[in-house]
Amino acid sequence: MLTIVWTVVGFFLVAHLISLYSRKDNNIHQQVSSDQLQVVHHLAHPIVRELIRVEEEVLRMPPPRKRSPRTSKRRSRKPIPLVEEFLDDKSPIRHLFFPGIKTAAFGPTKDMGNETSYYFPGKIWMDTQGNPIQAHGGGILLDVKSNTYYWYGEYKDGPTYHAHKKGPARVDIIGVGCYSSKDLWTWKNEGIVLGAEETNKTHDLHKSNVLERPKVIYNEKTEKYVMWMHIDDANYTKASVGVAISNSPTGPFEYLYSKRPHGFDSRDMTVFKDDDGVAYLIYSSEVNSVLHIGPLTEDYLDVTPVMKRVMVGQHREAPAIFKHQNIYYMVTSWCTGWAPNEALAHAAESIMGPWEKLGNPCIGGNKVFRLTTFFAQSTYVIPLPGVPGAFIFMADRWNPADLRDSRYVWLPLVIGGPADQPLEFNFGFPSWSRVSIYWHSKWRLP
Ligand code: GAL
Repeated sequence: MLTIVWTVVGFFLVAHLISLYSRKDNNIHQQVSSDQLQVVHHLAHPIVRELIRVEEEVLRMPPPRKRSPRTSKRRSRKPIPLVEEFLDDKSPIRHLFFPGIKTAAFGPTKDMGNETSYYFPGKIWMDTQGNPIQAHGGGILLDVKSNTYYWYGEYKDGPTYHAHKKGPARVDIIGVGCYSSKDLWTWKNEGIVLGAEETNKTHDLHKSNVLERPKVIYNEKTEKYVMWMHIDDANYTKASVGVAISNSPTGPFEYLYSKRPHGFDSRDMTVFKDDDGVAYLIYSSEVNSVLHIGPLTEDYLDVTPVMKRVMVGQHREAPAIFKHQNIYYMVTSWCTGWAPNEALAHAAESIMGPWEKLGNPCIGGNKVFRLTTFFAQSTYVIPLPGVPGAFIFMADRWNPADLRDSRYVWLPLVIGGPADQPLEFNFGFPSWSRVSIYWHSKWRLP
């Protein structure tokens, strides 16, 4: 009996030592070298090597000064000074976060010389008609029938106001904007594919309500495009999901209904379609303290009774899910409204959980950049065409003073290398891979 006990103890000790050893270099968060990752990722393409180069960003703080009363009233806890500057629409360094249209617009209508096809996170991204893209809190559908990408998001080109003194800044619902592209850089405006309701005040889509984070998936069986979105009232008390359907990716989408999934409140949400065709709804619930996840019905028009509570008590929102080599990954934000906060990456062997925390995925920029997701919030992650293990991380740099002028922060995301945070459930097995999002002030696809 004693021999068995000691054998078991010995096994766990060895396993623990191996896991400690394999985690020795878990500080790549700060000092990752591109050569190291090069080996890990086997991503030999020279442009991919560029993507995983660590790029620092120095932001010079302005001298201390009196702030606008609105900014100082807005938050109770003392934020990092740079975040305070970010939230202050009168900040002398505002142009660093929201550079102006004259100097900092990019897109196909601009004469970009040899910078054509480059992404400039935080600058103003123009569509093929030279208008700023309106697809906030968005997601991408790759339509295999037409081999075209569709970008859906909140069309917010209206005035920002506060419905109530203490309520968050808002723009009335205009609808869901849709843009199409073959190369993920040149976007053609396909119009508003699901519009607001102007007159009927009891309608979910009445302009005084909230429509956020629309995501579209295609159902092979019914041959329909199905849109899921966050539906709410101006006070965020309805906390529901809405469903709409269309025969074409460019709409028009017919709005079907809204509900509280599984009987629970639902705010930030996304849908994820797995390789086997099963789709899932993931939503922040129980007053944003828990994520709920569950499969949709075969036609994707409803949830099934199956639901799991994951990341319980962790207060995560803005979920973006992706998959690599049969492991599910998720990037989420913390809950601070339009203000930026620290992202976390999570991984799971089953999409239904348990989900394990991997740590902050952000690399480069500077410390505040990494603690604020580069002053942005996750919305979606798309596989980078042709490079397994590489993705595009899509995030919104919200501008609460003028929401229509919120910016897009698209950055390369790479899976590889050991995760930063110790594991919660076992002796270091299985060891998860790190999710890394690299800051670049400009970059392009390989
Ligand atoms: C954020 C959420 C956004 C929007 C905002 C309103 O937490 O991610 O989608 O709802 O709050 O303040």
